[in-house]
Amino acid sequence: MTARVVDGDLYIGDVDMVDLAREVGTAVYVMDEAHIREQLLEYRKEMSFHWDDVEVIYAGKAFLSKAMAHLVARTGCGLDVSSGGELAIALAADFPPQRIYAHGNNKTPAELTECIEAGIGHIVVDSLEELERISALASERGIEQTVLLRITPGVKADTHDYITTGAEDSKFGFGLNQGLALHAVERALELPAIKYGGLHMHIGSQIYALHSFAAAIEVMADFMLEIREKLGTDTCTLNTGGGLGVAYGVPDDPATIKDYAKVVVDGIKEACEQRGLKVPCIAVEPGRSIVANAGVTLYTVGSIKEIPGIRTYVSVDGGMTDNIRTSLYQAHYEAFIANKADQPRSITATIAGKHCESGDIVVSDGPLQPVEVGDILCVPATGAYCQSLSSNYNKQVRPGVIWVENGNWRWVVRRETYDDLLRCDVG
Ligand code: LLP
Repeated sequence: MTARVVDGDLYIGDVDMVDLAREVGTAVYVMDEAHIREQLLEYRKEMSFHWDDVEVIYAGKAFLSKAMAHLVARTGCGLDVSSGGELAIALAADFPPQRIYAHGNNKTPAELTECIEAGIGHIVVDSLEELERISALASERGIEQTVLLRITPGVKADTHDYITTGAEDSKFGFGLNQGLALHAVERALELPAIKYGGLHMHIGSQIYALHSFAAAIEVMADFMLEIREKLGTDTCTLNTGGGLGVAYGVPDDPATIKDYAKVVVDGIKEACEQRGLKVPCIAVEPGRSIVANAGVTLYTVGSIKEIPGIRTYVSVDGGMTDNIRTSLYQAHYEAFIANKADQPRSITATIAGKHCESGDIVVSDGPLQPVEVGDILCVPATGAYCQSLSSNYNKQVRPGVIWVENGNWRWVVRRETYDDLLRCDVG
């Protein structure tokens, strides 16, 4: 991220965050457009360094807006959508449908119809019921739909339980053990209006240990061999999902995109060569590692409560409605005062949100500069899964999203108003 400090103020993308916060009001998400673009391009560069036939598909659930879809399209990446709503945003931004991948363990018939009618490139299928449904819907429309089958490779990634997805005991995908996955491929090959496009896995999110990806790739390659031997078919795409972790605070030391691309691409190439398989198109679906470190949240400090011998609570004008990750996953964040960014963080404070829950905490007992009411507080690394997981709890209006670059800023998602809260209230 292009951040620097000038006269104590934090600048991102050459925009003064303190002036911006005071001009537009808080809470507000700010994202560095250049950082997002660089991450997307770095994935493409590092992946294609190892293999020609690669695809980088941005996982829109991390953060999606029309501006984001435009940016993803311009970098040549694909887009993963996980609901009809995400698809609607992609289509509203004229995202090329052929480069869209649809996900979800229970896509509704309406969502499947939207995908098929929009002509999206791939539906990633999670169940036999869904496969049959797609076949029927596509046949009725005279369309052949390419599908990937989502497989749970039985590898438990080293991350929070709520964000592991590749273990045998998972609501997602086809397990390998009872022959379910093989049966799904067989059905995909025989059903009308279905084109078997390959396999997908996603073992989890915020993963630091790359060996989990390597282990899952071995399992997938064994399965590709089984498909070849038993069904006589090559798997022409292997999509290894997302999952690369990012740093949320100072001690965190995640793997780089370069290391990740090497493990995934070289791992697949070697595993296929060892088994005499054709090396497929290799696809990855990063979300968090594209946008997390591009974003910060700016708040204004409204009150400070010191409980002697216990702790200091610094309350801000947002909280669990704009960042649920601390309460939901015990995520670790750090904070600093954007208008005192050149001062040492010499006190310890808990940053509390404004909502009616004791668990509404953004940072627990973290270092902070000496703080006053009216200071602009900045929480970094909030570009992924914060706006997209935000809510209207307590009828809080959601913050808007501002993108900055080269000294300019613009709203890409405006702040909600009370009218937005009342828009669906027809009673
Ligand atoms: N592909 C699939 C099928 C996924 O389910 C996900 C994330 C991704 C790709 C992107 O994974 P990433 O590169 O972002 O790790 N709300 C949680 C994260 C949930 C992730 C869900 N799936 C959080 O805030 O930590």
